Amino acid sequence: MWYKSRFLSFGCSVGGVLCLLVAVQTFSNTSGVLESDQNFDASQAFGPGDVKEGYESEEYRTHSRSLLERRGVKQDLIRYVEDPPLGLPQVVLPEENPITRKKIDLGRKLFFDRRLSINNTLSCAVCHIPEQGFTNNEISTAVGVEGRSVLRNAPTLFNIAYQEHLFLDGREISLENQVWQPITARNEMAAPSIGYVIKKIRKIQDYDGLFEAAFDSRGPDIATIGFALASYQRTLLSGNSPFDRWFYGGQIDAISESAKNGFEVFSGKGQCIVCHRVQEDHALFVDHDFHNTGIGFAVSTGKSSATDNLTTRVQLAPGIFADVPNQTILSVSRNRNTNDLGLYRITENPNDRWKFRTQTLRNIALTAPYMHNGQFNTLKEVIQFYNEGGIPNELLSPFIRPLNLSESEISDLEEFLLTLTGSNVPDLVADAFAAEIGDIGTEDPKWPHKNTLGF
Ligand code: HEC
Ligand code: HEC
Repeated sequence: MWYKSRFLSFGCSVGGVLCLLVAVQTFSNTSGVLESDQNFDASQAFGPGDVKEGYESEEYRTHSRSLLERRGVKQDLIRYVEDPPLGLPQVVLPEENPITRKKIDLGRKLFFDRRLSINNTLSCAVCHIPEQGFTNNEISTAVGVEGRSVLRNAPTLFNIAYQEHLFLDGREISLENQVWQPITARNEMAAPSIGYVIKKIRKIQDYDGLFEAAFDSRGPDIATIGFALASYQRTLLSGNSPFDRWFYGGQIDAISESAKNGFEVFSGKGQCIVCHRVQEDHALFVDHDFHNTGIGFAVSTGKSSATDNLTTRVQLAPGIFADVPNQTILSVSRNRNTNDLGLYRITENPNDRWKFRTQTLRNIALTAPYMHNGQFNTLKEVIQFYNEGGIPNELLSPFIRPLNLSESEISDLEEFLLTLTGSNVPDLVADAFAAEIGDIGTEDPKWPHKNTLGF
C-alpha cells in the first residue's frame, strides 16, 4: 500500500480544550520494522510526539516525527504471558481463547488499524498511544472521530489482562467482548454496526487468510475479531520495575531511601494499600473494587474549584496567547452532560453513586493525566488530593480522610510511585512502533470515491 494519511500531531491545551488536529498525507512504501543494521532508540520513544520545548517562542519549529518515519523492533510478545515479569501473577486465559502468536499478530494489526472506524481515521492506538503509556498524556478526556467528546480519560492498557472488571464503572468483564464498545460508540470510532465492521474487514485484502490461519479456518466474525484484539492486549504485561526488584527480587539498592520511606507511607499512614493492594508474591495495586473519592460528586453537583471564575492563559500557537475565561473553557471542553455517576450507571443503586474502579498504579509515571476524568496533571496533585481527604460527600469512602502527611512524606510517596515503571516498557513500545498502521487505500471497499455504503 503506497498511499498513507496520518495524524501527525494531536496537541491540546488546558485539559482537553482547544485541540489542534493536523492530518498529514505522505507517500511511502515502508513498514515500521528496523533493518538489521539499525538500532531502536528508546530515548526517542516516549512522551507526546512533539515535546513543545520553546513553544512560547514564535521561532518554534515542530519536532514531531511522522508515524511513517518510526522504526521499531517486533517482539515475541507471547513470552510475557507465558512467563510474566517479576511482580506480576500468572495470566488467567479464557478457555475459549487460548493465546497464540498468530492471534497476537492479528490483534496487533487490528489495534493499529484506522479502518475500524467509520471514517478510517481512528484506531485504538490513537487514544491508547503506546509511547504515552497506552493512554493519552495530552488530553484529560478522550476525543473520538470528528472531535466528539468522550466522558472519561483513556486508561492505560498495561496489565489490562488482570482486570476483573473493564471500564471505570466496571460494565464489561471480558476483553474479548469489550472491543465492540469503542468500535461502535458514536463518540469513539463510530462504526455503525458490528456487521458493518465484519463485512468491511472481510473485504480488505490485507486481512485475506489471516483470520483463517489464526482461528482454524474461521474468518473474521464477532468472536474472532474480539479474540484477536484481546490476545494482543493481554500481552501488554509490564512489571520488573525498580519496586519489584527491591520488594520481590531482594535487590536492596533497586530504589532510593526516599522511595522506601514512600512505600512506608503508602502502606501505613497514607493507607493507599487498602485499595491499591500489594500481595506477598505479586502486586497489581488494585482491589478489583469501586470507591467514592468525591471527584465524581464534585463534578456532578457543580462544586468545582474556586478557579472557575478566573481566566487561563491559553497558548494557541507558537508565541500566540489568549486569556480565556475559565467558564468559556468549561463550556466547550466537556460533554454537555459531565455528570458521571460511575458504578451507579451500571447498578442503579443510589449507594453506588460516584464510585469508580480502583486504577492500577503500575507505570503511573507514564500515564498522566490522572483519575477517571483526567482531572490531575501530576502525581503531586493526586497525593495532595488524598492528603486533604478527597472531597467530602455523604457516600465518601471511609478510607478517604485527611492524612496529615508532611512535605517530606508527600515527596517520598511521589518518589515511591515513580519506581513502578516496568523495565520492558521500551520493548513494548518498540514492538508497537514496528506495527504497520492500517489505512484506507484504493483497493479498500470503503475507498471514498468508489462506493457509498461499503457493505
Ligand atoms: C476515542 C478514544 C478511544 C478509542 C478509539 C479507543 N478507546 Fe479504549 N478507552 C477509551 C476510554 C475513554 C476508556 C474508558 C471508558 C470508560 O471507562 O467508560 C477506554 C477503555 C478501554 C478499555 C478498558 C480499560 C480499563 O482499565 O478498564 C480497554 C480494554 C480498551 N479501552 C481497549 C480499546 C480497544 C481494543 C480499542 C480499539 C478497538 C479502543 N480501546 C479504542 C478511549 C478510547
Ligand atoms: C478507598 C480506596 C482508595 C484509597 C485509600 C486510595 N486510592 Fe488511589 N484510587 C482509588 C480509585 C477508586 C481510583 C480511581 C479514581 C477515579 O478514576 O476517579 C484511584 C486512583 C488513583 C490514582 C490515579 C490512577 C490513574 O491512572 O488515573 C493514583 C495516582 C492514586 N489513586 C494513588 C493513590 C495514593 C498515593 C493513595 C494513598 C495516599 C491512594 N491512591 C489511596 C482508590 C483508592
